[in-house]
Amino acid sequence: MPVLRINNYLDYYRLRAQSKDLHALAGRYDNTATTEFVNRTIWEKIAPGRADVLLDIGCGDASLLKMAHGRVLECIGTTSTPEEKARLESALPDLRFIVSTGQVLPLESGSVSKIVCNSVLLLIEDESDVRAALREMVRVARTDATIWVGEIPTRDEAEYYGQYRGNSMFGFLRHLLRHQGLRAFFGMIRRWLKAVVGTEQIILNAARGFCLEPERMIALARDCGLLLTTYSRHKELDAAGKVADSKFRYDYVFTRSETIPLPQNVTDARCQPKTPSPPTLPRMAGT
Ligand SMILES: C[S@@+](CC[C@H](N)C(=O)[O-])C[C@H]1O[C@@H](n2cnc3c(N)ncnc32)[C@H](O)[C@@H]1O
Repeated sequence: MPVLRINNYLDYYRLRAQSKDLHALAGRYDNTATTEFVNRTIWEKIAPGRADVLLDIGCGDASLLKMAHGRVLECIGTTSTPEEKARLESALPDLRFIVSTGQVLPLESGSVSKIVCNSVLLLIEDESDVRAALREMVRVARTDATIWVGEIPTRDEAEYYGQYRGNSMFGFLRHLLRHQGLRAFFGMIRRWLKAVVGTEQIILNAARGFCLEPERMIALARDCGLLLTTYSRHKELDAAGKVADSKFRYDYVFTRSETIPLPQNVTDARCQPKTPSPPTLPRMAGT
């Protein structure tokens, strides 16, 4: 199908799993240097040790897991679709992947000591789902866990950069004409024609994402049971390969609060405060 119309980021990453280039799963186009830099920075900040169990929620192209492999007790990456999991497993058979969204993690409570969720929450549209994901991190975290939540933008970046959000080809062409001029407009018509007669695909994504100012993000996380350790402007590499501050994104490091707040209207034994326990390897829930 030449034009694919989608309304959420799960389908977006499902499609990216078709790419020959594994890095397509990291969602940074051809900027592999930034993916390497960002994951290296996370690794240094959370400083995992031999006894740690590391969970990378939305592990992208598994850059962080490759760093962790053999240097921690156990490392697990989640992918939001089975297509991404299959793609990663065929390229990296020694690593462990599970299919899961951040909102429902199929892992035992209190089983993970380092949790990373980088450049993921910004892909979730509803704040209630972001809350669910933060609560799941708290649930699976050990009492002394370190929890990295990275790349939360303070505003809607797509809107700021004038990106088209919708799934009408005519709407997209009108948007290009208005915001980028005739050259972009005719360039897209040429791509569209090539897509109709060839194998090229045009993806139109109408999904919205999540953004929040640091003060409100910290309060939201606290509500879900996460206590702030530090936060800072997200760092990335600019076009010249120099380290630069992201315009809108922030990174947060949390610990788990001793008391885990219960989700509203839910009575669930998983959410009761836990006492510190000896390390247990995470198992899939129900196994
Ligand atoms: C931009 S990539 C980030 C990859 C990696 N964390 C990094 O920073 O290099 C987004 C990742 O989030 C995953 N993802 C998308 N929606 C998700 C959700 N609701 N819950 C968990 N993961 C999700 C995708 O499968 C993909 O692996």
